[in-house]
Amino acid sequence: MPVLPQVRGEIGFHEVSFAYHEGQPVLHHIDLHIPAQTTIALVGRSGSGKSTLAKLIPRFYDPQEGYVSFDGHDIPMRDVQDATRAAYIHDFIASLPDGYETLVGEQGAQMSEGQKQRVALARVLLMDTPILILDEPTAALDMESEYHIQEALKTVRQGRTTLIIAHRLSTIQTADEIVVLDEGQIAEQGTHEWLAMQDGVYAHLNKKTAGI
Ligand SMILES: Nc1ncnc2c1ncn2[C@@H]1O[C@H](COP(=O)(O)OP(=O)(O)OP(=O)(O)O)[C@@H](O)[C@H]1O
Ligand SMILES: [Mg+2]
Repeated sequence: MPVLPQVRGEIGFHEVSFAYHEGQPVLHHIDLHIPAQTTIALVGRSGSGKSTLAKLIPRFYDPQEGYVSFDGHDIPMRDVQDATRAAYIHDFIASLPDGYETLVGEQGAQMSEGQKQRVALARVLLMDTPILILDEPTAALDMESEYHIQEALKTVRQGRTTLIIAHRLSTIQTADEIVVLDEGQIAEQGTHEWLAMQDGVYAHLNKKTAGI
């Protein structure tokens, strides 16, 4: 198995613009620096581009403009292919009409459970770095489940660079920094205390609690 380079976990978005379909940009000129081992909460309205931004980190999609870096380096496509080869899924991906550009997921390529698992394994190999990406479910949890998730998160995020697409105030408040996306652009960035005092998108979402 190829040995993938270990990284400290610093993530950089450099003037990143991305569209799933030509002419319909979803992310516009994203400049974001996530220092190693910090936790960033990504918030914003539904459809603002949070999940899309997160998906660019494991290079599931490549931006049309700009690039995503790890510890200051642009990850080459070769690393992705090393990981998929190691998980014995490279040949399958390469055989798809759109190859590595294939959209995977509900509306994407049809894959068997075994193939999905191997893709997932490849991602895990690729993500054998101190980076954790969580897309928090919007659905309300009961108090006990929420408590257990928060406790688990406290442990798991230690020593890792963590990006959480956060809906719950309890998650958001414990992040080192909050990034607010609005229509594919970073609208605001700062701590909960600071952003809540501004008359911006975050303060509005925060007032509507359910809106985040
Ligand atoms: N696989 C895809 N193919 C085409 N368009 C997509 C795909 N995934 C998302 N989009 C579009 O990209 C935009 C951003 O979607 P994204 O899923 O990143 O938003 P989000 O902020 O995560 O929303 P939510 O809070 O509802 O999860 C939306 O207009 C969405 O319709
Ligand atoms: Mg999402």
